[in-house]
Amino acid sequence: MDGWLDSTQTNPGRLHEAMRYAAQGGGKRIRPLLVYAAGELGDIQSEAKKAALDSAAVAIECIHAYSLVHDDLPCMDDDDLRRGRPTVHKAFDEATALLVGDALQTRAFEIVANAQCDVEVRLSMIKALAAASGSRGMAGGQAIDLDSVGKRLDIEGLKVMHAMKTGALLSCAVELGGIVAQLNSSQMQCLKNYSQALGLAFQIVDDILDATADSQTLGKTAGKDAANEKPTYVTLMGLDYAQKQAKELQEMAIAHLESFGSKAQALKDLALLVVNRGK
Ligand code: IPE
Ligand code: IPE
Ligand code: MG
Ligand code: MG
Ligand code: MG
Repeated sequence: MDGWLDSTQTNPGRLHEAMRYAAQGGGKRIRPLLVYAAGELGDIQSEAKKAALDSAAVAIECIHAYSLVHDDLPCMDDDDLRRGRPTVHKAFDEATALLVGDALQTRAFEIVANAQCDVEVRLSMIKALAAASGSRGMAGGQAIDLDSVGKRLDIEGLKVMHAMKTGALLSCAVELGGIVAQLNSSQMQCLKNYSQALGLAFQIVDDILDATADSQTLGKTAGKDAANEKPTYVTLMGLDYAQKQAKELQEMAIAHLESFGSKAQALKDLALLVVNRGK
């Protein structure tokens, strides 16, 4: 991330400092790891491909970091703690946090547009990133999330919300790796099936941890979903069911990788990591 974001010497220094604070302050880096893991499914391990994967990995993490900065704002989840530190609007101010999100998002598109690969590959990456981030993806899911406060969604509604607010970007990470690896359409479909299961599992685990772990371990405020009256897998279906569902989705995700053989080991490991984190 360090080399891809503007330095604090670039005008306006405070905005660039806040962008770095948001994007470089820890985090599990699951989305970049998914980009690289999916990239391993291709045949060639060229320097050019590695450079393109770097661009994709940084871009998706910029979008993710922006989504967290906005998610924490007082008008959204109103959170003070993120990745073990004060949230961006606490460490800086609300207007800066808003602009950090705006600027990280556009930086992501600038990075993929300039990636060291064919123009067709770049265009496919831009399309995938836009579709996953926008009103039919993450931003749309966040809108549903806000609209659901204090309401009782049914399980299908909850799945749609989770697939959009969280699944879309995780799927996009895997898709970006597949695009760079130039996989065929049936391989891309297997990846999509894998990432859809993984995306839902990821948010279920996030909901479980919100209800069961402490703020110190999480690096973010525990119990926030209950405090904000958010419908989650835990509130709707109970803890046991949520845990079983996460495990089942993990197995489903891994089963979709079968045709890739040992090349998919990293993707398998990530599915295990996502569901077992916090244990
Ligand atoms: C948190 O994502 C927000 C969700 C989409 C559930 P992560 O759990 O990947 O957050 P970091 O990047 O590790 O901080
Ligand atoms: C956030 O979901 C999903 C995003 C698009 C950022 P949450 O609101 O549950 O994420 P956390 O728990 O604050 O990280
Ligand atoms: Mg939220
Ligand atoms: Mg939140
Ligand atoms: Mg959460």
